[in-house]
Amino acid sequence: NTAQILKGQHWLITAGPTREAIDPVRYISNHSSGKMGFAIAKAAADAGATVTLVSGPVALVTPSNVNRINVISAENMHQQVMAHVKSTNVFIACAAVADYKIAEVAQQKIKKSNDNMQINLVKNPDIVADVAALADKPFTVGFAAETQDVEHYAKDKLTRKNLDLIAANNVAASNQGFNSDTNALTVFSHAKQFELPLASKQQIAQQLVALIAQQRDENQ
Ligand code: C5P
Repeated sequence: NTAQILKGQHWLITAGPTREAIDPVRYISNHSSGKMGFAIAKAAADAGATVTLVSGPVALVTPSNVNRINVISAENMHQQVMAHVKSTNVFIACAAVADYKIAEVAQQKIKKSNDNMQINLVKNPDIVADVAALADKPFTVGFAAETQDVEHYAKDKLTRKNLDLIAANNVAASNQGFNSDTNALTVFSHAKQFELPLASKQQIAQQLVALIAQQRDENQ
């Protein structure tokens, strides 16, 4: 994509999983590979945007012309996003952020003892909802990874989190979502629905970036 349609715009993107520490050697996380977020970052940079990518721990090479900020926990990711969101035109929350963190992280490695043990969890900040609540919010895009009732939950998130678009994939299907190199998305705005059929994550990312740019123009 040589057309620099996003020249002069700043796009902020989150990608990958977060890790929530249990003790110095253990954590809770998820299977997010970061591939979709990195593909979007590349597509936006290729289209001329200045791109900041806030990434959880992933084994991926940073696309060229992308400013990458590495984070570990949801709280780290929240801090970095809030520190960089000012003057951002588009925010895309592609990260699989842990909904909960450990209430009290143990300072030393937890020892094996009883047959049962409990870990107390508390809610993490909702990064995309906090961005969408800003007075001068950027055009805000969320993702919904659902295993059931995809449309219902995606539209609920769109409204509840005050998003402009939400991209839904059904992670129950085997050839899309998480570690796969392909994906298919249904994107919802408040008024419309767009289908991006099964393709490589890089192709899907290019289509999504074009769709976001077009929907943002329509909104202005
Ligand atoms: O509510 P749920 O986690 O399913 O919403 C998914 C969307 O919200 C994704 O865009 C994800 O990146 C974002 N999210 C977030 N911060 C959280 C949880 C989810 O930005 N703590």
